[in-house]
Amino acid sequence: DIVSSDFPIVTRTDFSDTTFLLEILHPAMAKAAKPGQFVIVMVNEHGERIPLTIADFDRQRGTITLVIQAVGKSSREMQAECRVGGTLFGMVGPMGIPSHVSDAKKVICVGGGLGVAPIFPQARAFKENGAYVIGVVGFRSANLIFWEHKFRSVCDEFIICTDDGSAGLKGLVTQGIEGAIAEHGDIDEVVAIGPPIMMRACAEATRPHKIKTMVSLNPIMVDGTGMCGGCRVRVGGRIKFACVDGPDFDGHAVDFDDLMQRLKRYRPQEQQSLEQWDE
Ligand code: FES
Repeated sequence: DIVSSDFPIVTRTDFSDTTFLLEILHPAMAKAAKPGQFVIVMVNEHGERIPLTIADFDRQRGTITLVIQAVGKSSREMQAECRVGGTLFGMVGPMGIPSHVSDAKKVICVGGGLGVAPIFPQARAFKENGAYVIGVVGFRSANLIFWEHKFRSVCDEFIICTDDGSAGLKGLVTQGIEGAIAEHGDIDEVVAIGPPIMMRACAEATRPHKIKTMVSLNPIMVDGTGMCGGCRVRVGGRIKFACVDGPDFDGHAVDFDDLMQRLKRYRPQEQQSLEQWDE
């Protein structure tokens, strides 16, 4: 792992009121990063340690791209404080086992919500591996869409789904998956990143077709090094630590009920912290 002490913010793009992108200059980390890995950042000295999936990396520019959804106290703090010209107090990584980019010939790469950005480098990696890539991404509505051109440049087919039908297919990403499966019949693998409820739905959509489905889990993390046990998840009846054994797992084996239960555990404290920060 790489640890340094100066993390300049070189780009910030706001995609919507809640979603924004930061590009951080860190040539060594950009060189080491692989799709599927994550970093832990601290906005300031007193900040919480925030695990964020690496949304993209640019080895030439020496940058790491993070896409953040400002939903809780720490992410809203990031939204308020992180500006071009400023720095992050801390960023450690790349952590986690890189996604295994298989030799699948035809894959569906699915991203929803916060998962749209990190599915991009995976789609690109499959494309570079010679696969036929079908991208399926879900947004609440048309005004929240981002990176469409990036996806189109690496996907052979690209399907946008919106909850309200304001762009693309009206409905959930699972409808996009089902449509693609019906049309192709020879899908080797599905990779899905997004909220647990979405990843579970994706795994259920592919289960009857016996299509290998990989998901990227996002449990609560503290140290990110396998010591605290905060990120433990149940996969195939076994306990795994997402930070060192994952974050990618076989979606058909993940106990999503357990994951969602654990994610809810600190909700009252998270709410309280957000309210105190808001005041
Ligand atoms: Fe502590 Fe994984 S975050 S063990």
